[in-house]
Amino acid sequence: MKFFIDTANVEEIREAEELGILDGVTTNPTLLAREIKRTGSKPETILKNICDIVKGPVSAEVTGMEQAGMVGEARKLSSLDPHIVVKVPVTLEGLKTVRQLSLEGIKTNVTLIFSPCQALLAAKAGASFVSPFVGRLDDISHDGMELVDQIVVIYENHAIETEIIAASVRHPLHVIQAAMIGADIATIPFKVIHQLVRHPLTDLGIERFLSDWNAVQTN
Ligand code: E4P
Repeated sequence: MKFFIDTANVEEIREAEELGILDGVTTNPTLLAREIKRTGSKPETILKNICDIVKGPVSAEVTGMEQAGMVGEARKLSSLDPHIVVKVPVTLEGLKTVRQLSLEGIKTNVTLIFSPCQALLAAKAGASFVSPFVGRLDDISHDGMELVDQIVVIYENHAIETEIIAASVRHPLHVIQAAMIGADIATIPFKVIHQLVRHPLTDLGIERFLSDWNAVQTN
């Protein structure tokens, strides 16, 4: 399974890249706005900096609501760097946009997926990736991972090549479940990447090894 990081923070992306586990990045307007506010940089600069660090897909989202506007934004985003994947919301206008962009050879990530029907439509329109939002479904007492499972089954049944990104990941269990179900990718916040590494028994083990070793050192 591929690991993407769900952030627009360049320092977080650099650290994840140094770990050797990073296959791509997803951003969204909220994450980008946070970085614009924090750094004062332009969105294009932030995206370009991200693409310089990670040599994998970098999702950047359109904010228009009509096809013509979304296609225009998508062309501009895609011209920033060959790694850019254009994120498009799953609406009627969004689907038309995805179809147009797929005809132009521009990769898309159809976002805000909350039902298997939406995932099926996105794939038919030509999406390269779909992003079911697991955590936001859990938040309203729906089983977010069941949605990922349904999409995996549908895509397998019909040999659909669109890749499934388990998104809105909130904790390590989401990552494990996504891997077991067969999602192609999990896009994971920086904090959760740290949580994936840590285990209290590892910390205790290191402490014990070091204290036993230091006890027999003479100088
Ligand atoms: C996915 O691409 C989105 O950026 C993200 O996973 C949304 O997560 P949230 O529900 O934690 O905002």
